Amino acid sequence: MNRELRKVVIAGNWKMNKNRAEAKELVNAMKDKVANAKCDVVVCVPFTDLETVLSAAQGSNIKVGAQNCHFEKSGAFTGEISADMLTEMGVEYVVIGHSERRQYFGETDETVNKRVLAALAAGLKVILCVGEMLADRENGITAELVALQTKIALRGVTAEQLKNVIIAYEPVWAIGTGKTATAQQANEVNALIRATVAQLYCQDCADALTIQYGGSMNAKNAAELLAQPDVDGGLIGGASLKADDFAVIVDAASK
Ligand code: 13P
Repeated sequence: MNRELRKVVIAGNWKMNKNRAEAKELVNAMKDKVANAKCDVVVCVPFTDLETVLSAAQGSNIKVGAQNCHFEKSGAFTGEISADMLTEMGVEYVVIGHSERRQYFGETDETVNKRVLAALAAGLKVILCVGEMLADRENGITAELVALQTKIALRGVTAEQLKNVIIAYEPVWAIGTGKTATAQQANEVNALIRATVAQLYCQDCADALTIQYGGSMNAKNAAELLAQPDVDGGLIGGASLKADDFAVIVDAASK
């Protein structure tokens, strides 16, 4: 991470975990442990937990995000939630394009782009996820694929709006598998994403962009990953469900 150029952000992605009572308990347990963080701390929780977590996090440095939003403002989109619905609640962040959305719910680079644009227009900060599958890495197309995902997802995003975007590099083969990318692999792809953004916008824009790593980041490996110059934080799944582990990662990012 390079604190002089950009913000360091540790975000928890709770995925489909925690009911309201459990969510309240977890945030309450986290609050004191991350109170002195020298990085931004975000928890991205299920829609049904948002209200509970917003209220439990009040007065703390924990910021709240959702895990998806739709690209239309309203209408006949059963099961979807609009970006405006989130901002109206006081939600600040939203994860867009997570590989689980792409794999299991038919999200494409095009719909990810539409959701990014809608979220930014509504005033949300976007955590945009990109990353290759194992077969892509084995076929040697990680660089092209991640650059392409980045370019399509950012289509139509202005340089001004880019200030509200965080990119999370999440190699799909590292998610929930316990198989972390090596610090060098993470840094290499993060640097490539930054170079892509520099090409699309400007070098200063790219230097100011927070690029996280996600995929089996945990209390043990966080320090090494975060020591890399282009790894500006983490998007944490499993380890964000335990207050102690999450706090260790926040501490590692605060060094
Ligand atoms: P894990 O940390 O459980 O591997 O999940 C990473 C992730 O998908 C965060 O969005």
